[in-house]
Amino acid sequence: MRSLTMLLPSLVLLAGAQPVFAKCKCAPTDDCWPSVSKWTALNDTVDGKLVQNQPLAEACYQGPGYNAKQCQSIASNWADNTWLADSPIGYSYPLVDTCPPINASVAAYPPCELGNSPLYTIKATQAHDVAAGIKFAKENNVRLVIKNTGHDISQPLSIWMKTIRNGLDYHETFVSSDGSCHSDWNGSAITIGGGYVWQDAYDFAAKYDHVVVGGGDPTVGCIGGFLQGGGHGSLSHEFGLGTDQVLEYQVVLASGDIVKANACQNTDLFTALRGGGGGTYGVVLSATVKAYPTRPTLYHSLTITGLNRNSSAVLNATANMISKYPAIVDEGFAGTALLTPTYGPWRYMSPFIKFLANDFSAAINHAKGVMNREIVNDLLPGNGTDYHVESEWHTYPSWHAWYAATHHTSDGSKQPMMASRFFGKQSLVSQQENIAELLHILATETGEGVHTTSSSSTLLNIVAGGKVLEDAPHTSVNPAWRKAYLLLQRVDMWPANAGSQEIQQVKEELTTRKLAAMKNLASGMGTYVNEADPYDIEWKEDWFGDQYDWLVS
Ligand SMILES: Cc1cc2nc3c(=O)[nH]c(=O)nc-3n(C[C@H](O)[C@H](O)[C@H](O)COP(=O)(O)OP(=O)(O)OC[C@H]3O[C@@H](n4cnc5c(N)ncnc54)[C@H](O)[C@@H]3O)c2cc1C
Ligand SMILES: *[C@@H]1O[C@H](CO)[C@@H](O)[C@H](O)[C@H]1NC(C)=O
Ligand SMILES: *[C@@H]1O[C@H](CO)[C@@H](O)[C@H](O)[C@H]1NC(C)=O
Ligand SMILES: *[C@@H]1O[C@H](CO)[C@@H](O)[C@H](O)[C@H]1NC(C)=O
Ligand SMILES: *[C@@H]1O[C@H](CO)[C@@H](O)[C@H](O)[C@H]1NC(C)=O
Ligand SMILES: *[C@@H]1O[C@H](CO)[C@@H](O)[C@H](O)[C@H]1NC(C)=O
Ligand SMILES: *[C@@H]1O[C@H](CO)[C@@H](O)[C@H](O)[C@H]1NC(C)=O
Repeated sequence: MRSLTMLLPSLVLLAGAQPVFAKCKCAPTDDCWPSVSKWTALNDTVDGKLVQNQPLAEACYQGPGYNAKQCQSIASNWADNTWLADSPIGYSYPLVDTCPPINASVAAYPPCELGNSPLYTIKATQAHDVAAGIKFAKENNVRLVIKNTGHDISQPLSIWMKTIRNGLDYHETFVSSDGSCHSDWNGSAITIGGGYVWQDAYDFAAKYDHVVVGGGDPTVGCIGGFLQGGGHGSLSHEFGLGTDQVLEYQVVLASGDIVKANACQNTDLFTALRGGGGGTYGVVLSATVKAYPTRPTLYHSLTITGLNRNSSAVLNATANMISKYPAIVDEGFAGTALLTPTYGPWRYMSPFIKFLANDFSAAINHAKGVMNREIVNDLLPGNGTDYHVESEWHTYPSWHAWYAATHHTSDGSKQPMMASRFFGKQSLVSQQENIAELLHILATETGEGVHTTSSSSTLLNIVAGGKVLEDAPHTSVNPAWRKAYLLLQRVDMWPANAGSQEIQQVKEELTTRKLAAMKNLASGMGTYVNEADPYDIEWKEDWFGDQYDWLVS
């Protein structure tokens, strides 16, 4: 999730005239910062698509941009991932909180600033714009970042990929673009030609009665951080990670050259772009991914609502279920469960699916039998006394029919900080009490005066196991993915009126206490680079495993 700036190795050689100890890149306050005429020349090169960014919530602050009505509208959209993705500097998390949409005339906030957000953005619509941005950044030694939806956080110049839209293409069978790369994939494929989001790709695939492996949330971008960093969703269990599906990328290199990367050409680049993370190895213009015929989809919705404010019963029941997760994962269930007091009492909600081989009742009954035996039956004795349990089943004729009928966008709350960890099968089945204790640690704060809001939550992603356990050639994901059964995530939010000290404390508790407790129960496992705690000091091992040195090289 951390944006690494583009590595421009040739720069080091070209910059021979520069003192060795000079700062790496020019910042706006430096003498070497490009003049206005240079920016204007860049703007001409990209046909007027260069914008100078202003903080999103500028309207909330005294000054020439002040506008109370606009401020109110910004404040009400502040948590909407689609609204954020529509701005060149809208980021989902960690929150860029250098200019929050607060009532600045009453709250004692620092002045509104861009923070880490880029000063300029090219709203790229074609490969030429991308190459022009790379060339400018190189010649002027300014930092460059690539933004797609901004579901990641990333300063000076950014290239916005979301505005590149060269269409989606369906291929009955995959043939590499030059026709010479024989892959062992004889199925269908879809080429995603620009800054599309998964909702676009799902709808497109559905027209051909196919599915693709994308994100649980429809607003995540396809070809950027998701595919390049790993990519999980409700179908990754069945078919492997998002990145495992990529057959070919079209990429703009730091040299400005446009190349293809697949199993035959530029294989190092292909491998790095399949798991090594976004924003580092090149700018991806398009990706061709495997597509699979759709199938009937079994849906199980389980909700456990605490009957009093005491979290203990729901947390304990959840720990018990987590210890049984391997059994339902091996049966093919997948999805993301949520454990939170957002709705008042503590609640566990799991909207899991199984992508069925067929809709014969024997297959459906088998799956239901496993879920009831492993999960639901244990909850029944406490139903009505400790909590209320609802267990519902539904069969949909296709995966898309299920996706369309159920809710997938993240709730309208900011997701300022998260920490996460992979758990292997053994660590889940053998540590039920420790996991119960962990869930209590994740749900509470110890520091005096430290508060998180009730939208803070624990997410239980069963998006691995199955096909994810099989290593795929030419991938560079954290090898821990290939042992993972659960991706446990903790998301902590602070109250809107929290001061900087309190925010700092919430962050510290998340890293030093909560993440540490997760690591304790899953040592050596690491986590998913796209959903990791940016303050984890062991980020190299935890995000990249033993792939790090190769990726750097
Ligand atoms: C609401 C929400 C839901 C999520 N759900 C899921 C989920 O279900 N499954 C999952 O696996 N992850 C999920 N994520 C995490 C998501 O995969 C990462 O945040 C991912 O990095 C987003 O990629 P993006 O391209 O949309 O975002 P951006 O922030 O635009 O980009 C992310 C990174 O990729 C780089 N990048 C973007 N485009 C390109 C490009 N064309 N070429 C090269 N580099 C590029 C950027 O520089 C940045 O480093 C979710 C995130 C959010 C905010
Ligand atoms: C780039 O040119 C366009 C079109 O002339 C203009 O609207 C825009 O403000 C310019 N951008 C910058 C940063 O000057
Ligand atoms: C901010 O607070 C001031 C003073 O209370 C009030 O007059 C103004 O309407 C508020 N603005 C918004 C956008 O709420
Ligand atoms: C595609 O490959 C699979 C697995 O190797 C094989 O079973 C299947 O027969 C092939 N289909 C075609 C049409 O070649
Ligand atoms: C919650 O219930 C458990 C079990 O009955 C009890 O041990 C614990 O003290 C209770 N916690 C609170 C905060 O009341
Ligand atoms: C939850 O588990 C803990 C430890 O096993 C126990 O002390 C507590 O009483 C349990 N709470 C409930 C409500 O059963
Ligand atoms: C739990 O109890 C309620 C009320 O009796 C009932 O409606 C519900 O079906 C029960 N849940 C399960 C999973 O049996």
